[in-house]
Amino acid sequence: MGKDVIIACDFSSAQAIFAFLDQFKGKKPFVKIGMELFYSEGPDIVRQIKARGHKIFLDLKLHDIPTTVRKAMAVLSNLDVDICNLHAAGTTAMMTAALEGLTRTDGSRPLLIAVTQLTSTDQESMEKDLMIHAPLDEVVMHYAQVAKNAGLDGIVCSPLEAKKVHNACGHDFITVTPGVRFADGDAGDQKRIMTPAAAKAIGSDYIVVGRPITQASDPVAAYERCVSEFCD
Ligand code: C5P
Repeated sequence: MGKDVIIACDFSSAQAIFAFLDQFKGKKPFVKIGMELFYSEGPDIVRQIKARGHKIFLDLKLHDIPTTVRKAMAVLSNLDVDICNLHAAGTTAMMTAALEGLTRTDGSRPLLIAVTQLTSTDQESMEKDLMIHAPLDEVVMHYAQVAKNAGLDGIVCSPLEAKKVHNACGHDFITVTPGVRFADGDAGDQKRIMTPAAAKAIGSDYIVVGRPITQASDPVAAYERCVSEFCD
């Protein structure tokens, strides 16, 4: 598994993301595109960033009936993204349908990872609103196992959970971990954070880093610092 730093490009327009990426000159960092940019600019933004030579994690978190997800995933696969995702809560039937939709005629496909429980969901809201009464960390590990059994490639999780996920689901099961901050940086609204070096030590496969890079005075230097702490 090649370790890499994925920049969360949480921008609202094509103009803003291109102004950001232009600073990287010859470098082609792996980027995460989320709902805001995708919904504002449409699928062409993915084609344009791909044409510039970047790998793309398209973070759209699909969750619908299996047929709808299968057909939607086929469209995303045609966009040639490298990683896409869905909610494990859609259950095994939805996840296997997603894999079917993603698989191209030559057998290749983007990596598919699952969101377990959103980090905005806590024990209380899970019990009250979702009627799930098991401990939250057990629910997360169970969803990870179900995603693995469905044939998915990994999950999004906190770097603090990466080791546990690898122990339960194997070291080939990818952990993609947001919530990364430099030791001397600002945590912002992230609560359970880890430095790139600590995320590497605990076994994260990919770290997703947004504001510590996008809002740095020198984003390229901040990106390179992440790469040297996490990948080298
Ligand atoms: O700016 P920051 O580094 O906090 O950005 C992290 C990115 O990862 C954002 O795009 C955020 O939506 C995403 N994310 C997260 N926590 C999760 C899942 C996704 O921060 N549990």
